[in-house]
Amino acid sequence: MQEGYTVAVVGAGLVGERLVAELRRREFPLKELRVLARSARTAELDGETFEVGVAEPEAFEGVDIAFFAGTEGEKGAAVQLAPEAISRGAIVIDNGSDFRLDPEVPLVVPEVNAEAVEAHKGLIANGNCSTIQMVVTLAPIAREFGLKKVVVSTYQAVSGSGRSGVEALENGREDVYPKPILGNAIPLIGGVGEDGYTTEETKMREETRKILSLPDLPVFATAVRIPVHTGHSESVYIETERDVSLEEVLEVLRTAPGVKFSGDAADFPTPLEAAGEPGTFVGRVRVEGNVISLWCVADNLLKGAATNAVQIAESLVGAAARV
Ligand SMILES: NC(=O)c1ccc[n+]([C@@H]2O[C@H](COP(=O)([O-])OP(=O)(O)OC[C@H]3O[C@@H](n4cnc5c(N)ncnc54)[C@H](OP(=O)(O)O)[C@@H]3O)[C@@H](O)[C@H]2O)c1
Repeated sequence: MQEGYTVAVVGAGLVGERLVAELRRREFPLKELRVLARSARTAELDGETFEVGVAEPEAFEGVDIAFFAGTEGEKGAAVQLAPEAISRGAIVIDNGSDFRLDPEVPLVVPEVNAEAVEAHKGLIANGNCSTIQMVVTLAPIAREFGLKKVVVSTYQAVSGSGRSGVEALENGREDVYPKPILGNAIPLIGGVGEDGYTTEETKMREETRKILSLPDLPVFATAVRIPVHTGHSESVYIETERDVSLEEVLEVLRTAPGVKFSGDAADFPTPLEAAGEPGTFVGRVRVEGNVISLWCVADNLLKGAATNAVQIAESLVGAAARV
């Protein structure tokens, strides 16, 4: 491990700011921290004033690790600039969805498949926010009892759409969601595919299969946006390979890496409590035969994005992991 690394954060939005905060909170060995965005400016991030630079190829000279938290798609930050960063010697950790399902790109949630990092060819993908918290919860159950089927309904916060989502909730901005978000629930996150599933629902299916190395696992998702600022919640129905008892399921969850297990049904986790916390909170566990029903909650900007990305960087450089 070097003494310190030159790190770039591309994007000064909600995830970019949390990346800056997590790098510092987890004491990642930093030599230099550059924040890059579309336009140069001074910005207050995590209580400190940063000179934000323009994200252009030359800005990656000398960078060891580049976290991408800009826009997605053909003209987005990662597609345009990740190859430039890699060609200059950086390892890219991408928060967007552009490369997640590329067979050449590891898709990593360290509690589940940390070893996948080793196969990287310069780029490592972070999972979708709703997928990450679900696989952290599913992985120990899969290891112990085997998985047959997963059915999930999500209750997703507006900060999952970045700053514009927060503006839709707080200021009534109208061009973000297909219907008003305040006082509402919108069961349509992303575009609808030919099979009727939205992009968010398809991400949950395909990414879960890849991260858990279960390519045929049946995963049925319904993704819903709700008027919560931060913290995604999920109701998950899990069919296991064999019958299980409540006690053995609780024992597995109590000791699962990354899981903060709320003891009994009365002590259920909520997004307000998960917001600002790095873990995945699980509660309301019920068991019948080979079916487990549970509720899980996590901060979409932290475990769903920044915390997971910094954990990946820690595993790359062998830095001590911090909860
Ligand atoms: N929000 C979540 O919960 C979450 C969770 C997991 C993954 N993600 C992913 O993380 C990424 C960032 O999300 P966010 O919520 O932080 O969005 P956001 O609040 O809208 O911020 C986006 C930031 O990216 C910058 N940016 C956009 N296009 C760029 C480009 N071509 N080059 C350089 N910078 C560019 C913007 O720069 P300017 O400020 O200069 O306009 C802005 O600072 C997205 O890919 C998103 O899908 C988000």
